[in-house]
Amino acid sequence: MEAPVQSVAPQTAPLRRIVLTGFMGSGKTTLGPILAARLGWSFIDVDDVIEAEAGVTIAELFARHGEAAFRERERAAIARLAAEDSLVLALGGGAIEHQATRTLLLTTSGTLLVHLEVELATTLKRCQGTEQTRPILADHANLAARYQRRLPLYRMAHVSISVDTLFPEQAVDQILSASGISGGKPNPT
Ligand code: S3P
Repeated sequence: MEAPVQSVAPQTAPLRRIVLTGFMGSGKTTLGPILAARLGWSFIDVDDVIEAEAGVTIAELFARHGEAAFRERERAAIARLAAEDSLVLALGGGAIEHQATRTLLLTTSGTLLVHLEVELATTLKRCQGTEQTRPILADHANLAARYQRRLPLYRMAHVSISVDTLFPEQAVDQILSASGISGGKPNPT
């Protein structure tokens, strides 16, 4: 299920934030800080913010309040964070399922939504042993269906990059070139 690099967003406004989406294990949290350093921007992981604000882990949030409550916290956190400038923002893998989040990230001026595409086999390999902290991964019965359901939503992103075989620096290079940022610095105009 190889997806070529695709870029469908000729950004007219100066780029002010890059938002990373993709299934678990796609490298959002690994690549995000590298990309941010290359740009001289900040990096924020939405899951970290949710955990810090809730004072409990995501697994505990799921266990205590259910997935729907987690999704609402996630939507609100993204809406707030996606207004910041000079920011690389890593979403949790399921955030893309929320229609309002997709619309926000696809239509806000200065925001580039980048999909890091992985095959499900890559997720299983990279995330092996993290079921305790990833309740969606632990839900084995529904994992393949979730993956299939989300794939077309991820692919709505402005840029989609297949990252199964890429090293982090290579993936960052591809993000920078697909987003039209030359030399790792955003266009100052
Ligand atoms: C989730 C992915 C996780 C986290 C939560 C739900 C999902 O983030 O947001 O466990 O629904 O795929 P990562 O994609 O960073 O693992």
